[in-house]
Amino acid sequence: MRTVYVNGDYIPENEAKISVFDRGFLMADGVYEVTSVLGGKLVDFEGHAKRLERSLNELDMPKPPEFDDLLEIHRELVRANGIDEGLVYLQVTRGSDGDRDFVFPSAETRPTVVMFTQAKPGLAENPAAKKGIKVISIDDIRWGRRDIKTVQLLYPSMGKMMAKAKGADDAWMVEDGEVTEGTSNNAYIVKDGRIITRALSNDILHGITRAAVLRFAREAQMEVVERNFTIDEAQKADEAFVTSASTFVMPVVEIDGATLGDGTPGPVARRLREIYVDEARKAAV
Ligand code: PDD
Repeated sequence: MRTVYVNGDYIPENEAKISVFDRGFLMADGVYEVTSVLGGKLVDFEGHAKRLERSLNELDMPKPPEFDDLLEIHRELVRANGIDEGLVYLQVTRGSDGDRDFVFPSAETRPTVVMFTQAKPGLAENPAAKKGIKVISIDDIRWGRRDIKTVQLLYPSMGKMMAKAKGADDAWMVEDGEVTEGTSNNAYIVKDGRIITRALSNDILHGITRAAVLRFAREAQMEVVERNFTIDEAQKADEAFVTSASTFVMPVVEIDGATLGDGTPGPVARRLREIYVDEARKAAV
């Protein structure tokens, strides 16, 4: 049984309790982070901590625990649960003042902070990365502040189910004819050696993995172009891939039934995955 963290306490998962009035539960009034663990250490921890602070700030929620405390809780959970490869999930909600109300509770209301681990043996040597994944396109009907990592994940969940129903692995969301991002990852295409991905704005989550991967790509003298692209352009690309804390760099080999290249992961995606996993391991804390 896992040890989880709830508002200052480390407890067995079956003893963890949250109020039925918690705004995370009633209103999806909460934000989250997912940090990967490689070799028992945290990948890109600083990036996740900074984004958490930004998400909370954008929603007028109280500041998160101090950086050092947050790191310590992450490490303690990884240790207590013996995680070598996996994820640490963190959620902060606006808490509850004991009733349901659309109006935010008073500023003194204590936020709810919950954290747990997920063991994912084989995260680095994920067999899916050797085969690549298939994606379908769906309309992006999410709200306009996708830069805030909120727990409003119903539509992304539905997107994954729509993909599954079509025999695919995931969905890319499309708005005004252009790809925003994957249901739980950032989306990229590669054409003539150039890596193309949508620029940062409120339309997409500012992926922590994205930032690292683009930095490594530029350091390796690969050309990166931050601009919008369509599904039609993506289907004609040489390669495609997605990035996230839970998949690192994952090659995409099919988009809406169209096979990319020879249907196997392309060299740019494979190289970026290798660089990212190596560097992530080295820099993990
Ligand atoms: N999802 N875009 C969306 C909509 C996401 O949900 C995520 C992450 C990303 C990639 O961000 P990062 O590189 O910081 O993980 C992009 C996490 C992994 C999840 O929901 O499980």
